[in-house]
Amino acid sequence: MIEIRSCSGLEEMDACVELQIEVWGYDESDAIPRKTFLLAQKIGGQVIGAFERGIRDQPDMQDPAKAVEKERENLVGFAMSLPAIKQTRSGPRPYIHSHMLAVREAYRNRGLGAKLKWKQRDEALSRGIRHMEWTFDPLEIKNAFLNIHRLGAIVREYRADFYGVSSSRLQGGLPTDRLLAEWELNSPRVKGFCAQPVAAEIAIEECIHVPASIDEWKASEASRDRALAVQVENREKFQRAFSRGLAVVGFARDTEGNGVFELGSLASLKHQLFQDEDFYAN
Ligand SMILES: CC(C)(COP(=O)(O)OP(=O)(O)OC[C@H]1O[C@@H](n2cnc3c(N)ncnc32)[C@H](O)[C@@H]1OP(=O)(O)O)[C@@H](O)C(=O)NCCC(=O)NCCS
Repeated sequence: MIEIRSCSGLEEMDACVELQIEVWGYDESDAIPRKTFLLAQKIGGQVIGAFERGIRDQPDMQDPAKAVEKERENLVGFAMSLPAIKQTRSGPRPYIHSHMLAVREAYRNRGLGAKLKWKQRDEALSRGIRHMEWTFDPLEIKNAFLNIHRLGAIVREYRADFYGVSSSRLQGGLPTDRLLAEWELNSPRVKGFCAQPVAAEIAIEECIHVPASIDEWKASEASRDRALAVQVENREKFQRAFSRGLAVVGFARDTEGNGVFELGSLASLKHQLFQDEDFYAN
């Protein structure tokens, strides 16, 4: 049984730190320490965990025959976010910047990543926060599928080499280009996605493709140039499309696992999106 809830106490923060290193393979220069997790939670961010409940035997050292059964919880995923402020036309406004989402490999593709995101949304809304953002690598097809197709985030900003050099094993030594996902938590669009993915009522004007082999290309020194070529080509396409006022509003994958970002004009999605127009006015 998996429970999604806010983390508490030093041990649970330590478990997040360990899982972070397990998932990304960060070295000391990139890994986020326990005190930052703690601080994030204390100052209005979020540290939310997916806990598997299990049973373990705790032998009584005096009498090993008297094994005590004690319930234990194992952290198998977490989402960590920071409180943020955006300057809008009506003044400074709080929002949540989600910095990390991770699920232990053996527990992936059973909906836990999505559940952690929806819990982040509920928790933020319970405090009156109505906007969330996070960045993701445009070459990670699965993440794009989750963020755009499953959660209904939109994208209208490209950040080239956002973090500089990264020790993340997932980055494969490539520049840390990122798309900025924007999630308007109480908009009709996102509320609709709570139940199931909703096709955008919008004409798709451009598609940007990511080949399924990209992970393989990134992982090997010999083929990394091919991955870099896709990154450079797609960076230009995204930047050109965003400067024309297009936004990513859909994402599809074909039977071979290739990914397709679908872009359309944000103006025609206004009625579904703009519960809080100020965040989109910049
Ligand atoms: C990203 C991550 C948190 C997702 O966790 P998860 O529990 O596997 O996510 P979910 O099961 O909720 O959703 C994954 C979806 O992607 C789909 N998917 C899996 N592999 C895919 C692929 N190669 N291409 C496209 N979609 C894929 C799954 O089928 C699922 O969709 P479905 O619910 O329609 O079946 C997890 O993969 C992870 O920890 N990755 C490494 C760290 C990372 O990249 N974090 C995100 C940074 S933004």
